[in-house]
Amino acid sequence: MSAAFVPVILGTARPGRRSEAVAHHVLDTILRRNLGSELVDVADYAVTGTGRDTAAGRLDVYAEIVESADGIVIVAPEYNHGYPGELKLLLDSQGPAYARKPVGYVSVSAGLMGGARMVEQLRLVTTALRMIPVSPAVHVSEVGDAFDADGSFASSSLQDVLDAMLDEVEWYSRVMAAARVPAR
Ligand SMILES: Cc1cc2nc3c(=O)[nH]c(=O)nc-3n(C[C@H](O)[C@H](O)[C@H](O)COP(=O)(O)O)c2cc1C
Repeated sequence: MSAAFVPVILGTARPGRRSEAVAHHVLDTILRRNLGSELVDVADYAVTGTGRDTAAGRLDVYAEIVESADGIVIVAPEYNHGYPGELKLLLDSQGPAYARKPVGYVSVSAGLMGGARMVEQLRLVTTALRMIPVSPAVHVSEVGDAFDADGSFASSSLQDVLDAMLDEVEWYSRVMAAARVPAR
């Protein structure tokens, strides 16, 4: 069986976003597990409204990524206790291709709450997309101090939670992918 494909969605297009470094660390961690992955940057898919394509007409690229994904990890900051609007527009651009695929959450915050409120809202949205929300979620609080000089999480327990979340995403990815492909 080929390796599960678990793309990482970076859910903010804000100039100067700190979530980008977190998304790259999550991507590296997934690739080190010998899973397939790639970064899906909402900034590359500037959807201007529900049901509209991007100016560059790239939503077919996103559609193909979601279709071939076995699971998805979303890395997003908490903005006013919610998820960024550009993330919601991108998620809403697709439908059945999300169904029965696991989704893991990584929230990013400059504060002490780690973006936990955002994740709980995103759980509801992804449930409506018929995805399988996994636990635990990863909450990166005080993101300015989250990384060592070598780019790894300064807190080993934060890395442990990321690994535990990815264990769940990987397990569901394999099980659900096997269920999607009829046995010969
Ligand atoms: C519009 C806006 C709203 C924000 N609201 C929150 C919030 O509700 N809770 C929080 O912890 N941080 C909030 N922040 C700060 C983010 O935690 C901070 O920008 C952090 O670096 C993660 O976001 P980033 O990827 O955009 O850098 C907000 C930032 C912006 C730009």
